[in-house]
Amino acid sequence: MSVVVLISGRGSNLEAILDAGVPVSGVISNKADAKGLQIAARRKVPARIVEHRAFAAREAFEAELAAEIDRFAPKLVALAGFMRILTPGFAERYAGRLVNIHPSLLPAFPGLATHERALAAGVKLHGCTVHYVTAALDHGPIILQAAVPVLRGDTPDTLAARVLRQEHQVYPRAIRWILEDRLVSETGVVRVKGDDAQLVFTDRA
Ligand code: GRF
Repeated sequence: MSVVVLISGRGSNLEAILDAGVPVSGVISNKADAKGLQIAARRKVPARIVEHRAFAAREAFEAELAAEIDRFAPKLVALAGFMRILTPGFAERYAGRLVNIHPSLLPAFPGLATHERALAAGVKLHGCTVHYVTAALDHGPIILQAAVPVLRGDTPDTLAARVLRQEHQVYPRAIRWILEDRLVSETGVVRVKGDDAQLVFTDRA
């Protein structure tokens, strides 16, 4: 009934997941210098490194990654700032038990540099999305979103910080729903059993 978290960098979402008391059995990074590995070490969570650079082909990297994941036999695999595009085969292998957090209100702004693009587009509402991972990059069924206002004078950094605070709230919550088998999915639309809201809105700066 545990979670494996995949990271590439800072690991603040990993830390939020751990702080929330989610049972994390392992952390896997594709980068040896990911700061998040220090968080795993401090919390005594077993960590593995599978460096994508060591593999000539994406499939070979993913085969090793999957082998490491499966050693932990997790109920759920959570991508938390994992900066590798995964093949459709990988998404298929973990279908229904692979989730991601993306720093925009999907389907707006899939891909990178979301905060810069949100500011350039002049949107007044921005946020983050926890979603199931499917073969289509950043387009899987939406589990939970948090929305924040875009404020006059925002820079990509101030906007990113406001979104990140919400990421740390919603990602552990969404993971918990899955561990508790509270999600039902019908034709690509995910609902949570009970009263919990699948949208968090904050008007705080
Ligand atoms: C977060 O903004 C997340 O939404 C995105 O990458 C960033 C990872 O940050 N996918 P951290 O490593 O969790 O601090």
